[in-house]
Amino acid sequence: MHKKIVLLPGDGIGSEVIHSAKDVLNAIAKEFNHSFEFETHLIGGAAVDTVGTPLPDTTVKACQEADAILLGAVGGPKWDQFPSDLRPEKGLLGIRKALDLFANLRPIKGFPTLLHASPLKEEVVTGSDLLIVRELTGGLYFGTPSERRDNNQSVVDTLSYTRKEIERIIEKAFQSAQLRRGHLTSVDKANVLESSKLWREIVEETKANYPDVKVEHLLVDAAAMKLITNPTSFDVLVTENMFGDILSDEASVLTGSLGMLPSASIREDGVGLYEPVHGSAPDIAGQGIANPLAMVLSSALMLRHSFGLNKEANRIEEAVEHVLERGYHTRDLHILNGMVVGTSEMTKLVVEFIHSLSESE
Ligand code: NAD
Ligand code: IPM
Ligand code: MN
Repeated sequence: MHKKIVLLPGDGIGSEVIHSAKDVLNAIAKEFNHSFEFETHLIGGAAVDTVGTPLPDTTVKACQEADAILLGAVGGPKWDQFPSDLRPEKGLLGIRKALDLFANLRPIKGFPTLLHASPLKEEVVTGSDLLIVRELTGGLYFGTPSERRDNNQSVVDTLSYTRKEIERIIEKAFQSAQLRRGHLTSVDKANVLESSKLWREIVEETKANYPDVKVEHLLVDAAAMKLITNPTSFDVLVTENMFGDILSDEASVLTGSLGMLPSASIREDGVGLYEPVHGSAPDIAGQGIANPLAMVLSSALMLRHSFGLNKEANRIEEAVEHVLERGYHTRDLHILNGMVVGTSEMTKLVVEFIHSLSESE
């Protein structure tokens, strides 16, 4: 299979972890006789510094023409005081919107060897396996107008959704639940927000078409609590953009580190951008110690969702599992009696297992 993959390293550890994904995909290409063609483009702060905008047109065009996209991370203190149109994050929001990547799938499943790496009690975390379906192109992130008024005396951010925007993410969530354990938790703030009331109504309307899915509604504050007190009670959790952003970082605690969480941002026709849940981690950038596994696991999601390459995706996930089972881990994971390795060593280990697992088949 020949595929064209656009790489958007971005900023901070983004460029470090994207290298890992490329190495891993090259190993997969070799093992399974595929040809992956990579093209690297600018986004975020790196793009602001080079061409004066966080999302150059050339990047959008390349992404539109690609079979899939891998994104590292954007942002950093260097650009924090820039005007909002020149913020690296604008580039990320821009590419999500330009490609209509409305569904952000964030699977959270602890690797068995990492159960004790979570600060939560092992018996609480054991068996947790959930999917956050986050709406990605609406809500507060895309409110108009978002602005300061009256000489800084007031400020406006708007939370708006169309019925269609809510319907398509709810549909996606029901479909995901059907493919999993048939349980859907819809998270909102329907006791306060009008957008949440409509959201809840649409979930109730859609439910009739999915009689095999059990539906539950939770208010976001209670959901935040339940996510870490009773994570095994969740299968698929669907929510709007901002709530999904916050809850997914919280849920990463179940896996032992934010550096473990992959995600897929997809369009109705399956086109996808694959990105770790974490950011550019300025506090550790440039030190070669970032955990590349969220990015590596995101590339497995790409193989599965965009290319239908299930065996290849499984191989990456198995390789990661083997490396962790041997006790190797990056510094962000708190594992007893393990061996701390850096980003490139971790990548090398995953690549080695990708090759050696084929010999043992
Ligand atoms: P962050 O996710 O970058 O970091 C939070 C903490 O987790 C830090 O202590 C960091 O060192 C650690 N961490 C994150 N990923 C790690 C990894 N792979 N390995 C080891 N440790 C890891 O969040 P932040 O510090 O709040 O944000 C930093 C910048 O990143 C901001 O500019 C923010 O806007 C941006 N950001 C970008 C994305 C994205 O591009 N998708 C996502 C989140 C934040
Ligand atoms: C994420 C990030 C982004 C978001 C930021 C960088 C705009 O936190 O992908 O989770 O909030 O969507
Ligand atoms: Mn986030």
